[in-house]
Amino acid sequence: MLQKDFLSIRDFSPQETGQFLHLACQLKAHPGGYTSALKGRTLAMIFEKPSLRTRVTFDVGIQELGGHPLYLSPAEISLGKRESVYDVAKNLERMVQGIMIRTFAHDIVVDMARYAGIPVINGLTDYSHPCQAMADYLTMLEVKGRIAGLKVAYIGDGNNVAHSLLFAGAQLGAEVWIATPPGYEPDSGAVAWAVERCAATGASCTITNDPNLAVLGADVVYTDVWASMGQEAEAAARRNIFQPYQVNAKLFAKAKPDAIFLHCLPAHRGDEVTEDVIDSPRSFVFQQAENRLHAQKAIMLELMKGDKAAERETARESRLELVK
Ligand code: CP
Ligand code: NVA
Repeated sequence: MLQKDFLSIRDFSPQETGQFLHLACQLKAHPGGYTSALKGRTLAMIFEKPSLRTRVTFDVGIQELGGHPLYLSPAEISLGKRESVYDVAKNLERMVQGIMIRTFAHDIVVDMARYAGIPVINGLTDYSHPCQAMADYLTMLEVKGRIAGLKVAYIGDGNNVAHSLLFAGAQLGAEVWIATPPGYEPDSGAVAWAVERCAATGASCTITNDPNLAVLGADVVYTDVWASMGQEAEAAARRNIFQPYQVNAKLFAKAKPDAIFLHCLPAHRGDEVTEDVIDSPRSFVFQQAENRLHAQKAIMLELMKGDKAAERETARESRLELVK
């Protein structure tokens, strides 16, 4: 794999997407086997939004691979205000070997990756959450034993988590359904990309406003908060709009009898999901949360391992030769 960054699952081939999962399984099965794989390498973690899972799993993950985490809070960096994205990238590339960034506009991570000569990992933007999707499909693979042909029903807001679930599903052969209230559908460009990729992989994607149709016969039922980080002011209005999309026992019963429930977390019990679903034996949300660790260790290992920088330089030189 020659990609420098992990910004979107769209940037990879179906085979490469599968390779990340395969490596994550290996890392999970042999936790002691990679303890010096990223020895001496530092990952800067830029957070412009709060986090539990992303913060902890990147921090623990890089240490388990022999490297060091460096947490940078919103107050410290103040991206674009105290200092431009360009200047932050140009500084960090001289000090650390990788950057994980959680921010608002997706363009910020794209710019960071363009300016920094080191790997940049998207730890959530308003548009996507690719590390989450890798953990999601790892969990499905573990629990269901396969991904191809699984009916995955996402019920809720068609934003970041839904986009990445759709992209990864299209790469890995899943049958992804997304049910949202009218006006909250996924981005049309995201859907268009998924439709095209599905044609190549045998996956499928369906966007609907009917949660019952989406959940009918599903293997996996997935939801996320109704108001994402940065949308707190809309929370009351959204509560009314999204109420018919609550994943409760009645809706969950329309899925297959052995269907599982997933949620990226944090969850708001009584809003997007009821206790009898999220706290039931068919809920795998904590296994899913743990899998962030294994999935991200695979991503860091693939992007930050020693020979990668040299590989990228050789590839860049041969591209320049071609241009000459
Ligand atoms: N799912 C997820 O990204 O959780 P955090 O916001 O706690 O990182
Ligand atoms: N859609 C949610 C996901 C949190 C992990 C948000 O952006 O807040």
